[in-house]
Formats: sequence, C-alpha cells, structure tokens
Amino acid sequence: MKNKKKGGFSGQLGFVMAAAGSAVGVGNIWRFPYLTAKDGGGLFLLIYFALVLTFGFTLLTSDLAIGRKTKMSSIYAYGQMKSGWKFLGYITFLVPALIMTYYAIIGGWITKYIVIYLTNNSKDAIKDNYFTDFITSKASPIILMLFFMTLTSIIVFLGVEKGIEKFSKIIMPGLFLIIVGIAIYSLTLSHDVTLANGKHVTRTGLEGFKVYVIPDFHGLTIKKFLQILLDAMSQLFFSLSVSMGIMITYGSYVKDDIDLNKAVSQIEIFDTAAAFFAGLMIIPSIYVFSGVEGMSAGPGLIFISLPKVFNEMGIAGKIIGLVFFVMVFFAALSSCISVLETLVANCMELFKVSRKKITLILTAIYMIASIVVCLGYNVLYFDVKLPNGSNGQLLDIMDYISNSFLMPLISCISAILIGWIVGPDWVVNEVCKNGEKFRRKIVYRVMIKYVAPVVMFILFLQSIGIF
Ligand code: PFF
Ligand code: NA
Repeated sequence: MKNKKKGGFSGQLGFVMAAAGSAVGVGNIWRFPYLTAKDGGGLFLLIYFALVLTFGFTLLTSDLAIGRKTKMSSIYAYGQMKSGWKFLGYITFLVPALIMTYYAIIGGWITKYIVIYLTNNSKDAIKDNYFTDFITSKASPIILMLFFMTLTSIIVFLGVEKGIEKFSKIIMPGLFLIIVGIAIYSLTLSHDVTLANGKHVTRTGLEGFKVYVIPDFHGLTIKKFLQILLDAMSQLFFSLSVSMGIMITYGSYVKDDIDLNKAVSQIEIFDTAAAFFAGLMIIPSIYVFSGVEGMSAGPGLIFISLPKVFNEMGIAGKIIGLVFFVMVFFAALSSCISVLETLVANCMELFKVSRKKITLILTAIYMIASIVVCLGYNVLYFDVKLPNGSNGQLLDIMDYISNSFLMPLISCISAILIGWIVGPDWVVNEVCKNGEKFRRKIVYRVMIKYVAPVVMFILFLQSIGIF
C-alpha cells in the first residue's frame, strides 16, 4: 500500500540529519547536563552510555523499521503490523499531541533570552526571580510562543525534503560545532573565589571537567543507584525521541535502499555526543563560577544559572550567551518541527487531507492550546501534585502525562508486540532487506523480548507512584 504522493528524504545524510534534528534539543542541552550534575557526574554518564547502546538502540531500530516497512505513521503503522493493534497507534499519537501543547512555549522562553542578549539587557537576567517573573507574566510568553509556533509551522508546511531536510542539513552540523567550541572554551576558564572561611582558591575548568566525568561513588546506596537508573532511562526516551511515533513517521520517509542499522548508530552517536559536549560546556563553567553547590541548580540551570556564569565572563560572556541561546533556539526548533510533522503526517493519513491544509488547521488548534497552557502560570494557575511526587502547573501536567506516564507504557506494549506477537524477525528482516548486516542482533533480540517489556513496566509503575 504505497502512497505515491508521499514525500521523503533524499538520502542517508538528509535522513540522519533530520532524525538528529529531532533528537538533539533541549533534552541534550538542558536536561542532560542538569541530570548529570544532580546524579553524580561520571556514574550517570556511564549508565547512560550503557543504556544508549542497549535500550536506545533497540527502541530506535524498532521505530524506524516499523515506519519504513509500513510506510505509515503510528496510527496506521501499528494497525498494519497486526490487526487489532491500531489502539497502540492512537495511544502513541497522544504523545506528540500533548507535547505540542507546550514545546513552543519553551521555544518562546528561549527566544526571550536571545532578545535579552541582542538588546544588551543581559544584566537583567541575573536578577532574582527574573525567570519566574517572566514566565508568569501575561503577554510576552504568549507572543513569543506564537512566533516560535509560526516558524515551526512554516517549515512543516514546506514539506519533508524542501522544509525539514534542508533546514536540518544546514543547522545540525553548525550546532554541533558550536557546542564543541564552547565546550573547549569552558575548559580554559578559571576564577578566583574567596571561601566562607576567608581562604582564596582558584577553580579551573579542568577541575570542573573531572567533576563531570569521574564517577563519584560516595554515599551510593541501592536506592540512589535505582534512582539514577530511572533518571537515565527516562532521559533516554526523551532524548532519542523514541516511543512517541516521531521516529516511525521519519522512518516512513526513508528509502528502501538505506542501511537502517548504520543510520541508527549514526543518530545514536550524534545525539549522545551532543549531550556529552553540552554537559562539557555547561558543567565546568557552572563549577568554576558557583562551585559544586551550583551544579544542583536543577531545571533552572540554563535560564537562571547560566546567565550568571555568562555575566561573570565579561564581554566574552555577552557574545557566548547570545551564541548559546541562538543555538538552543535552533535545537528546539528542529525538535518542535518533528513533533508537528508527526501530527501532520498522522492526520494526513487519517483524514486524507493535504499537508498544507492540515498544517494550518493544527497550527491554529495548537496556538489556542498553548495559550491556555501559558495561562496556567497566571490566570489559570493551580498547583497539582503529580503521582511521581513532583508538583506542577498545566505545562508540567502535559509533560508528565506524555513523558513519564505514556512513554514507558507505549514502549512496554510495543516491545511485547514485536518480541512476542509478530516476532523480532519482523524488524530484523526489514533492517536487512537488501542483505545489510545487523550489528548487535543478539542484543536486539534479547532486549526486545525479555528486558524491555519488564524494565518498561517497572518504569511505568514508578511513574504512577507505585514505588
Ligand atoms: N529529543 C528531544 C531532545 O532531546 O530535546 C526532545 C523531544 C523532541 C522530545 C521531540 C519530544 C519530541 F516529541
Ligand atoms: Na536528544
């Protein structure tokens, strides 16, 4: 059932760059460094790398193979894999449908910081409560969100090859070079500080680097270890954009002669290296200017702590601050594009409408939905306690349902579908259909049949607060 009018990526490079565009986003630049800092540096890194090579590889291969074999987005793809399984496609569709209600809002926040640096007002950003005052204000978060949403929708409107692929091929390599550049710069930093007891010390970027990569086993308990494992696992889904139908949709645009196994490795390497270097650019700088305590800044890391670090750097900091937020902006934009594209692709198949028409309709719907979520910080403010123990407003609720609750559930059910119902060969044969080699095949089989269903189920129970 091949759809002739369907667009597609021109070749391996375009595909890998577009998939990397979806994968590399605020998850790499903000979430990964802050989790690494919180979870003891090197130990988190080690665990994360091990999970990428096993779970990440398995889930990414599955999503892409499902997309390419069925040539459909999630709703129809699962239905075609096995009759009666369309329900899983609908559940999967819910994830981008929810993420889209808030992703452009975060894009708007990033835009705000570009404006601050461009208008030479970066001193404002280091004031106490600046960030909170901004996101709880009424007009500007909405205006900036609308701007971000418009850009996203223009690129999706242009289509897969002319819009998404072209954009990603230009942006992604540049983004990577900038992250590496700032990372190297941050290693050269040093700063004199006077401690509470009056002693003077000089903290250097290289020391910060050690804090980042050397595992700290101090006070490690089983409970703490499990927490790190769970953090790393949920970061992994989010980071690789798996189990939310995005990679199924992108897989459906991949030509049959492309080596999927190789592409999976390239996407994994790109995403993980981007995260590693993002940590390398952020953690040593935070360490140099605020010490080890500064590293537990949590979610406020890039909006609250980093502007302070840039401010300490003087003139160089103004430029680096601007470059940094422009880079985060493009990373977020290419991820947001992949979310909207997945919704557009599913709706095109579902309602048999043209790309342009459905892009406009969805943009209108999501502009309204995002305004509502923005108002969750002021007019519609309420504080909800979530089952996983954290508190939040509308945005956090959307994030919780899509990332913490639905993603492990979808991964668990789809691993059962592949491992036990259609069998791992369904995927293996698709990957090797032109006689390509399937490296790590044994890992794939064991993971998809035994490890993934069990671990994902545990993760799901944890998300609803059972442990
Ligand atoms: N993978 C992206 C990141 O690491 O930032 C985040 C992301 C993109 C999550 C798209 C969800 C999504 F639908
Ligand atoms: Na990522």
